[in-house]
Amino acid sequence: MKKLLSKDEIREGVERLAAQLRAVYDGRPLTIVAILTGSLVLLADLIRQLDMPVRVALVGSRRPGDKTSSRRAVVIDASLLPALEGRDVLVIDDIFDTGHTLVEVIAQLAVHHPATIRSAVLLRKADRCEVAIEPDYAAFDIPDEFVVGYGLDYDDRYRNLPYVAALDPEELAGE
Ligand code: IMP
Ligand code: MG
Repeated sequence: MKKLLSKDEIREGVERLAAQLRAVYDGRPLTIVAILTGSLVLLADLIRQLDMPVRVALVGSRRPGDKTSSRRAVVIDASLLPALEGRDVLVIDDIFDTGHTLVEVIAQLAVHHPATIRSAVLLRKADRCEVAIEPDYAAFDIPDEFVVGYGLDYDDRYRNLPYVAALDPEELAGE
């Protein structure tokens, strides 16, 4: 396992992200939609640095394939969403990889007619994007490696690491 981002670097990155969001929304109420489960740590740290009124909703994504596959069926239970019509909505996720998850979530939220939908991620992987959008805000650009920690898991492990690390191919194949 190779450490990519230390606890302090992540804290600084989340602070930068929060400062951008405070400037963009300028005190206006914000509805944050966080994609489970990887974004939970970012969500907890980020919302404590925002100064506008914030509502939080959680949406699920499910991974059908292998443990490192990011192709997931995104499951949004609309009955769990707060009213989005006319609201400023910010979708947050742990990582932007191929982008399919974010595209799907944004499409499913758009039918509720929010005033704006923007997106913010902790990490954006280089050269992986397969969709026509990019996240509006990304705290860090990282190389194309499988990473864990600060909410990101490999087969439900490592989410609780306070730093972000890349797993070696042997660690991914092993066990
Ligand atoms: P995308 O749809 O390909 O952008 O994938 C996004 C989702 O895949 C994220 O929400 C993560 O849950 C998962 N994912 C993608 N890359 C990684 C990684 O390197 N480590 C852990 N999870 C990842
Ligand atoms: Mg995720």
